[in-house]
This record gives sequence, C-alpha cells and structure tokens, in this order.
Amino acid sequence: MPATNDRSEVSRRQILVGAGTTGLLAATGATAASETAQAATRRARSGAADGTPEQIHLTWGEDPTSSVVVSWASPDQATRPRVRVGRRVIPAQERQYTDGVNDETVWTYHARVGGLRPGAMYVYVVTADNDANAADPFSATFRTAPAGRQAFRFTSFGDLATPNTGWVLSYGQSAYAVSAVESFQPLFHLLNGDLCYADLNPQTQPEVWRDFGNNNQTSAAYRPWMPCPGNHEVEFNNGPQGFTSYLTRYTLPDNGMPAFAGRWYSFRIGSVLFVSLDADDVVYQDAGAFVAGPDALTPAASTGNAAIEPGTSFYIRRYSDGAQTQWLEQTLAAARADSSIDWIIAQMHQCAASSSATGNGSDLGVRAEWLPLFDRYQVDLVLNGHDHDYERSFPCRGTDVNAGTEVATGATVNTLRPHPVTTDDTGAFDTSQGTVHLILGCGGTDANLDDYGVDGKDGDRQAKVFTTANRPALTSTPDVYARASADAVEDAIWSAKRDTSTGYGIAVFDVNPGTGPGSQTSITVTQYHALGADPVNPATGAKGAPTPDYTEFETFTLVRPRSD
Ligand SMILES: [Fe+2]
Repeated sequence: MPATNDRSEVSRRQILVGAGTTGLLAATGATAASETAQAATRRARSGAADGTPEQIHLTWGEDPTSSVVVSWASPDQATRPRVRVGRRVIPAQERQYTDGVNDETVWTYHARVGGLRPGAMYVYVVTADNDANAADPFSATFRTAPAGRQAFRFTSFGDLATPNTGWVLSYGQSAYAVSAVESFQPLFHLLNGDLCYADLNPQTQPEVWRDFGNNNQTSAAYRPWMPCPGNHEVEFNNGPQGFTSYLTRYTLPDNGMPAFAGRWYSFRIGSVLFVSLDADDVVYQDAGAFVAGPDALTPAASTGNAAIEPGTSFYIRRYSDGAQTQWLEQTLAAARADSSIDWIIAQMHQCAASSSATGNGSDLGVRAEWLPLFDRYQVDLVLNGHDHDYERSFPCRGTDVNAGTEVATGATVNTLRPHPVTTDDTGAFDTSQGTVHLILGCGGTDANLDDYGVDGKDGDRQAKVFTTANRPALTSTPDVYARASADAVEDAIWSAKRDTSTGYGIAVFDVNPGTGPGSQTSITVTQYHALGADPVNPATGAKGAPTPDYTEFETFTLVRPRSD
C-alpha cells in the first residue's frame, strides 16, 4: 500500500505543478480527476495527513488596491499549501498552535497575493499536495479596492457565533447573517469582535473556531472580512492576551509593533481610513475567559497546564501599557494631515455609547482613553459590537461632567458622558462636528440583548456605565463566582435610535466621494434587520426563530467637507 500511495502522490503532484504554471488544469481531464479522488480515498483509509483547505477567508494586504491575503486551515498539516492566481503560484506560510486547554494542534496557512491591479476581479485557487479535493480544488473570486476617491460599499456587524447550536451562544441566525453579507455584495466586511465565543466552550475551542470559519467562508472567501478582537477572543492558556486562536487564523495589516501584531491596525480604501482597535486593552469591564465554578477548568493532562480555579478571569486591561493609544494618536494625526483622506472610521468591540439594559452598556475606559482623540482628529464613525442589538448615537463631541450616578450608593460619578452636538434626529449629520457611534452586535449569536435602559423616574433613556473593574466575587453559593454588571448609570441623552424589535441585523455603508475638490462627501448608512429572529424577545417574551429575511430598519446620511 505505501508504494501505491507514493506513486499516486507523485503523479498528482506533477499534474498540479503543470496546472499551476500553465493553467491547464481542465486539460488534465477526467482520468486525472479520478486518479486523484482514488488517491484521496486511499490516503483517508491509510490515515495519512489531510491537508484539504477549509475555513478559507480573505483579508486586505498592506495596500488594498494591490494586495490580499488568502488564509485557511486544514485538518492536518498541509504539504506544499499554495494559492494559484492565473499563472502565478503563491506558496503559503504555515502557522500552527496547540490549544492550551484541549491540546489539539491547529494548522493554518496564509498566502500574500500582491502585485494586483486596483478595482479588478481575480479568480484564485487554494490547494495542497494532500488536498482531498486536488482534482477540483476550492476556487473563488475577489475584487481589489479602487484607487483614489471612488464610491464603494462595505458592511458590518459583530457577535456572529456559529450556526452549530451545540456550542454555547451559537444560533442559526449566524448562517443567515453570512448570507446577508453576500446579498449586499460589499467590497469588504468589518467583523467587530466576539467572533465565535470559543472561550465559552473551553474544552472544544478549536472545534468552535472550525464551525465559525466554515460558516463565514461562504462570504469571507469572496471578499475580505476584517476583524477586531472582542472580549470572547480572550482564551485561557492561549498566549499573553489569550488571542492565539484569533491571531493564528488571521493575517492583518502591519501596525509596526511586532509585540502587538494583529491586535490593532489600519487600512485605507478610497478616501476612507479604517482603524481597527482592541478595546480589551482599555475597558474597565472584565468579560474575558472566566471560570465561575464550582468546578475548576481542567486542561488536558498532555498540555501540562494546571487546573484553573473557580473565580479566575483573564483580565487584560492595560496590556499594551499605552502603546495602542500612542499608535492611535499617530495614525489619526497622519490621516487628518492627509488631504486625500476624508473619512476616519473606527471599529472596536466594546462600547463608549450603548444603553442596552440586558447587555453590557458603556465603558468609561473607552471614553477616557480614546474619545478625546476621536474629538481632536474628527473621527466620523465608531462601529461597535458587544451588545447584541442596534443603537445609533447623535453626533457627539466633548463630554458632560458628573452626569452619572453610582448604582450602589446613589452618589454622583463622572462617567464622561458623550455630549451630543444636536438631538434633532434629522437623518443627516455632519460628522466633522461630532462622532456618530453605532452598536452593531447584531450578527448571529444566541443571546439577543435588544432591551434598552429607561430611567424609572422620568422615562428618559438610561445607560449603564462601567467605571470600575468588575472582577470576580464569591456569590452566596460556595465556590461559585460572578462578575457584577455596570456600577453606574446615566441619562443617555446621546442615544438617537434603538431597535427594540430584534437583536439581529446588518449595517450597509455606501461611500459617495463627492464631485470634486471642496465638495461634500457622504456616507449613506442603512440598517437592515431580521424581524422575528430573537430566540426570545426581551421586551415582549415572543419566541422567534432564525430567518433569512432582512428588511430595512432605518437609513441616514453622514456628510463632511472633502479634505482637498
Ligand atoms: Fe462582547
């Protein structure tokens, strides 16, 4: 058997090398396909390594007009993993890690495809010598970004999870959410954190990531999906911030700080600078990996890792010691000094302006650390997840001091409440005057949180705000710990719109670059929502089910003068 296997490997490799350099894959014909399929079957029976690409997804390279990165995983180590674009064969870089809880090794591959033309469509093929589909390998298309001031569309949501309801916080809407991205055909998608909640399924983290990757492949293989880390990307025993599962799977634009690669980055499309941040570095809220008890979390013995005792949480606030904020300020200053950049759009997971009642709320850490920079450099739009709903703020600049109340004592607390520059909901906002915050944690996860705060005394909108760290505290049950909800509240005068009908949706952004120097540029934003998708509507108690139907919830326009 080994000799037979070896011969078929050689013949298949020769076929693929020929196909890769001459584009003659089709001409190798049915015989080659049959031989390869038989070889794959023999290999599977013999237990040989399976290098079949899966979880295939794209991210932008350093310059989205000319480069993308194709990333994927395979069940076992791949042999000669590669991408083919036309006549070019691009070898992939291997990155693997071993999960620190269940000791499984995950093999990932990353091929940088550069030298592309702006605004052009390409076909690519992903394969390896031990690809079971080598006769008909995975193939998809992508489009590069346009050069200069051009119109384009992007989409966003966070908190996606997987459609496999065997996993904690996974839900069927996750598949429809991916289809929704495809239905709008954006140039790319921003996935603003809490990708799959693997940390809540700690003994099976690689399996959860696999279901996530294979679910979003149906869109992310065709257009870049650009993620930021959320609190649920923080996993025990997986790297200094717990991001090893996340970072191994994604290749993201360089931030010039090797110790913090992939945590934050920026990229430019047309006249828009996109800045992706890791708010785990600045928030007060403790919401990463956590062992509530009464049982410890016991890693597989083969990891050599000790049991993680009840009451342990992985809290990483201030992990960059200010390096991220320094990078942010330099990046924003350079963008506002560049007359070819009009818009600055930031994504991060946790929120400066969320009034979810059943969810997390707002965080003073984001407000104190980054809102002054957003003000100084006129950041137009901030996209968040974390609360599984849809909320839009008025444009905000500066803060209202001492506007908060400590929940426990009723004492006044300074929540640095964002100050709205208008509370007239006209549907058109000049973001050179103030930053608009959108909560888009409406991807697909099971816990719909579309229930919003109301001040019982006057009926005004009310937001919870974390102003201190909610580290684990022992409950009345022995060996069981809990993390408290936000410690303060404020009247949410910055809140303009909240979707009370469903916790699921997708935001679609259409950038209009304007007509010439000195003109106005605009972004039309439309929120589409999935009515009836709430497992249980928190306001009405009505039980729903996943749905493919996304209908318009609201549309509004952001405008600002061009920088040229
Ligand atoms: Fe979150």
